[in-house]
Amino acid sequence: MREGQLWPALQNYWHPVALSKDVAEKPLAVRLLDERLALFRLKTGLVCFRDLCIHRGTSLSLGRIEGDRVVCAYHGWNYSSSGVCVRIPALPPERPIPEKARVEAFRCQERYGLVWVCLGEPRAPIPEFPEYADPAFDAYFIGPTTWNCSAARAMENFVDQAHFAWVHDGILGDRNHPEFVPVDVERHGEELRWDMEEPANPMHPVKHRRVYRMYRPFTIHQRKEREDGEVEATFYANALFRPEKAPAFFW
Ligand code: FES
Repeated sequence: MREGQLWPALQNYWHPVALSKDVAEKPLAVRLLDERLALFRLKTGLVCFRDLCIHRGTSLSLGRIEGDRVVCAYHGWNYSSSGVCVRIPALPPERPIPEKARVEAFRCQERYGLVWVCLGEPRAPIPEFPEYADPAFDAYFIGPTTWNCSAARAMENFVDQAHFAWVHDGILGDRNHPEFVPVDVERHGEELRWDMEEPANPMHPVKHRRVYRMYRPFTIHQRKEREDGEVEATFYANALFRPEKAPAFFW
């Protein structure tokens, strides 16, 4: 099966599509599951439209933002935050705006410095990252980085302990001790959970416990709880918003 065959089902999940800081005064064009989208930071908040003006098919991402409206670059149609056309400059004032003059708007939220979009009906909320808002933690943003593989394969790699001794020998693993202790994985709805005790290694000189939460479709939350009390949390959110190229990844 090709990953593209899964896209109809993947429409019903939240996906990170951009960094919040990259959606500013100008529209931003992105792709999600082969859908061309445009993000706009309006006065009323962030919106995500199909990147296609209903009038003559111009990319709305070529247009501009005026307060709480998106203005198409071609004939200046104005769209409200819900995607409804509220002004057609060429239309005589006595003529009403046609009912069908609207663009498709998708669910869009900002969380953890990322813009998340769901193209369908969300089967699950945006994955949890409680440490992000916890003042006891220092936050570091790494990425985005691009891997030339499917997002599912990248997820697998993140939790694949058996490769540490071979690919990360002397860093995360030890080739003289490649054995992997099996773990018990529990399913909780759209989420898998497990944890494991990890001995000290060259990268982590203190024994620690790793607690994993794997969220459908492509996000992992990992906590490393050291026996000296220090905690490190990683939120690994994979994005499929540029399928014509390699998937891009946010750490
Ligand atoms: S194509 Fe957008 S207003 Fe005409």
